[in-house]
Amino acid sequence: MDRVIIFDTTLRDGEQSPGFSMNTMEKLEMARQLARLNVDAIEAGFPISSDEDFEATREVARQVGTLDGAPIICGLSRVGLGDIDRCWEAVKYAKRPRIHTFVATSDIHLKYKLRKSRAEVLKASVEAVRHARGYCEDVEFSPEDASRSDFDYMCDVLSAVIDAGAGTINIPDTVGYAIPQEWAERIARIRERVHGSDRAVLSVHCHNDLGLAVSNSLTAILSGARQVECTINGIGERAGNASLEELVMALRTRKDFFAVETQVKSQELFRASRLLSHITGVHVQPNKAIVGENAFAHEAGIHQDGVLKEKLTYEIMKPEDIGRASNKLVLGKHSGRHALAARLKDLGFDLAGGDLDRAFRKFKDLADRKKEVYDEDLIAIVTDEATQVPETYELDYLHVLSGTGIVPSATVRLRKEGQTYQESSVGDGPVDAALNAIDAIAGLKGRLQDYAIRAATSGKDAIGEVSVKVDFDGTVVSGKGASTDVIEASARAYLSAVNRLVQRAGSERVKEVGP
Ligand code: KIV
Ligand code: ZN
Repeated sequence: MDRVIIFDTTLRDGEQSPGFSMNTMEKLEMARQLARLNVDAIEAGFPISSDEDFEATREVARQVGTLDGAPIICGLSRVGLGDIDRCWEAVKYAKRPRIHTFVATSDIHLKYKLRKSRAEVLKASVEAVRHARGYCEDVEFSPEDASRSDFDYMCDVLSAVIDAGAGTINIPDTVGYAIPQEWAERIARIRERVHGSDRAVLSVHCHNDLGLAVSNSLTAILSGARQVECTINGIGERAGNASLEELVMALRTRKDFFAVETQVKSQELFRASRLLSHITGVHVQPNKAIVGENAFAHEAGIHQDGVLKEKLTYEIMKPEDIGRASNKLVLGKHSGRHALAARLKDLGFDLAGGDLDRAFRKFKDLADRKKEVYDEDLIAIVTDEATQVPETYELDYLHVLSGTGIVPSATVRLRKEGQTYQESSVGDGPVDAALNAIDAIAGLKGRLQDYAIRAATSGKDAIGEVSVKVDFDGTVVSGKGASTDVIEASARAYLSAVNRLVQRAGSERVKEVGP
């Protein structure tokens, strides 16, 4: 059977959308899960865009791209030769590195953004691909805004870059403008019209502005595309990219129709989705296909009756197919270190030594406060530990006073480099008071742009997970914190944003270079 290459761009296109930025540790954690998911390629970043992105891409190449059976590790680069050099410096450590270079080919972009002629863009594309091929065998080229590009001109560019050595030509619907039938025809015509198209893998990269990214990707496969670019939970620029889990499950569930397969281990999909939500603090909507809370919940009486009699009546996929066995009671207060290690291993976290000791201490602390510990609790513990930014400020003490008829106040004590600092503040609620006290200690004035709280599991004693987005004088950073006490979780989330701000100082992202 024909195989479709799954190219994951969660860490590049996904990460570049507001509220989804990840630091190096977070990208590594996610990349490990993508490797367990067995995607073919991971686009780890856009190395020229910032030192932080360079470092994250390099670490993914070094630590994930060198594992046995590792996926391709790809970096994005504009067609500038300096961009390509920088990209290569980051991905070269991987066993299977790829350079993905792109330039816009639509007249709108040429005229208003690049201020270049068609001939100049064609020349730059060929030079870029040749230059990249000087470094590595595996080079991908994308004509940005392909869906609005002049067809013949774009095909000339594609023919020329294949001649120059591009092994994958990726057709992006950058602005999510395409309509499935039209897109299918365009992809089929590209295959016919581009010289040497039989020597390159034809790929698509669809955005979701009209809610059609998955449909467009699927129709492109019917027209011969053999790589799809996609992201976990469909995150990405604006309305996002095609959702990986939806594509994989559509191809799997309707193999009879598509007659293609992927090498993705679908049982890892749910964990990948939850890990991403946990890292970014952005959760999918309950009715999200495949991974939403309600995706397998049958509410209507008629449906429940049918499912009880025979699952096939209303279920086209099994929850186990995507690795969904959530809200399962796993461990309790009396469980030991070995039981925790074994359960974490099942969840995909292979912890040993000091890492396991720290996770065990947190687990015991949680089990003392909360009788039942679920998989989601364990994921919260481990990913918090693995993805924390260095704690310049540590929470040492928090006391809040709140209620009806009194002015909410908070006293916070923080530790920094062995010294403790304490401040008290008032606010319009206990959370506001606690955050004001943190601001007073750190000498900052943060403006909360976004605040979200959710229970990691069901039950009144569930862990509360708080995610925040804070604007510190024009620099927006996110943070997250978890505790069974939601005020403490809020203070921890805010503090992790403060710590991230401190860590970031000096390596500010260069935003203008984004595609
Ligand atoms: O949407 C887009 O055009 C892109 C390219 C860089 C592939 O993300
Ligand atoms: Zn994109």
